[in-house]
Amino acid sequence: MASSFGAAQVLVASNRGPVSYEVREDGSLHARRGGGGLVSGLSAIGPDAGALWVCSALSDGDREAVRRGAGEDGVRMLDVPADVHADAYNGIANSVLWFVHHMLYQTPLEPVFDAEFRRQWASYEAYNRAFSEALAEEAAEGAVAIVQDYHLTLVPGMLRELRPDLRIGHFSHTPWAPVDYFRLLPDDIAEQVLRGMLGADRLGFLTRRWADAFTACCDAVVGGAGGTEIGVHGLGADADFLRQRSHEADVEERMAALRTEIGQGPDGSARRTIVRVDRTELSKNIVRGLLAYRELLAGRPEWRERVVHVAFAYPSRQDLAVYRDYTAEVRRVADSINEEFGTAGWTPVVLHVKDDFSRSLAAYRLADVALVNPVRDGMNLVAKEVPVVSDEGCVLVLSREAGAYEELGDDAVVVNPYDVSGTAEALHEALSVGAGERAERSKRLAAAGTALPPARWFLEQLEALRS
Ligand code: F6P
Repeated sequence: MASSFGAAQVLVASNRGPVSYEVREDGSLHARRGGGGLVSGLSAIGPDAGALWVCSALSDGDREAVRRGAGEDGVRMLDVPADVHADAYNGIANSVLWFVHHMLYQTPLEPVFDAEFRRQWASYEAYNRAFSEALAEEAAEGAVAIVQDYHLTLVPGMLRELRPDLRIGHFSHTPWAPVDYFRLLPDDIAEQVLRGMLGADRLGFLTRRWADAFTACCDAVVGGAGGTEIGVHGLGADADFLRQRSHEADVEERMAALRTEIGQGPDGSARRTIVRVDRTELSKNIVRGLLAYRELLAGRPEWRERVVHVAFAYPSRQDLAVYRDYTAEVRRVADSINEEFGTAGWTPVVLHVKDDFSRSLAAYRLADVALVNPVRDGMNLVAKEVPVVSDEGCVLVLSREAGAYEELGDDAVVVNPYDVSGTAEALHEALSVGAGERAERSKRLAAAGTALPPARWFLEQLEALRS
């Protein structure tokens, strides 16, 4: 008997998918596979598990791939009209929901919830509806669908209406805002977001803190979380992958080049490194990190010539002016430190803004100190990755506002991310830790940071949803 249901047993939905396409000059399509926790998590269930990843076409190449029907097996890309996607992704997800959860507004002037916001919200609804309809179409009877992130908060509720037979999960990779901040949103919108998510059987968060904040918002806005289960799954780093990948030839090459930039001998002698690697999000606090480094050099001149701040600030969300301005500010402050303190043989800040994964791993290996000082962060995997990869062990300077603090706080030098002088002191303390203790701490950090690798993180959620 023909079924009106689809064939997929496990469905994942996220704005950004595991593959992106580029149209080459000869007109051919070139597919590039992305990495990340979800990709390795989903691959853990094996090729025969009937898994489907529903995602959005993001680039012209992606849209062309959809038009040509050239998609990869196991991936369905949705060609939501570009203007609707831009309103939903740039306008609502990244400029409103991201700002709310990371508490990024300068409140004397923003946010402004006006007619333009309402127009963009309608696009966010349409975009969430497109995902819900695709999932409803593709899912086998009783299948499990796990929806990702703040882009798709309305999907669980919409999908529940279309397909009451499904087991629906949602996972938030961001922090969740405290009640008072969440209530910056217009009341009806706050309610719609929460009710949308509560359409799920189960909601996942990266830490207990974010899960509790969500529950508190439900209590305040919609009278509680109802029957929806709430779980915490602290995504960890993938130790096996990182250890192997960071010893490949391209990483060794990058290490040699970096050593030259830093002014180190091949044995790592002479200069210490403070390493940071971020996507340039407003929440990563790169500028205050630089200001703290400046204060370290000013207040403790004994570190001049003896340390280099290696800062990789890779582009993110460059459609948004505020992100472009932030990157410009990072450059400006880095340049001004180099101008103020640099000497003929010493560049105090080595800043790179072009994404290069092999070079990131090279920097991890060379790190004496890792600086992870976000104003707020869902988890921050860099904090978990550097201790695994660093050759000699590193001291982690960690913001108490990063999700990773819950698991790594005991073995890190902890900072209030707004306290620049406190961060300068923390950098001094971290640089002063002796080799033995540094290696010991790093070992403990690596163990804690890899406790829940991506594959298990994903399977745990799947099992919880099925049981
Ligand atoms: O890091 C948090 C996060 O929400 C991830 O879950 C997600 O992959 C990413 O941010 C979204 O970033 P982008 O806008 O580049 O797709």
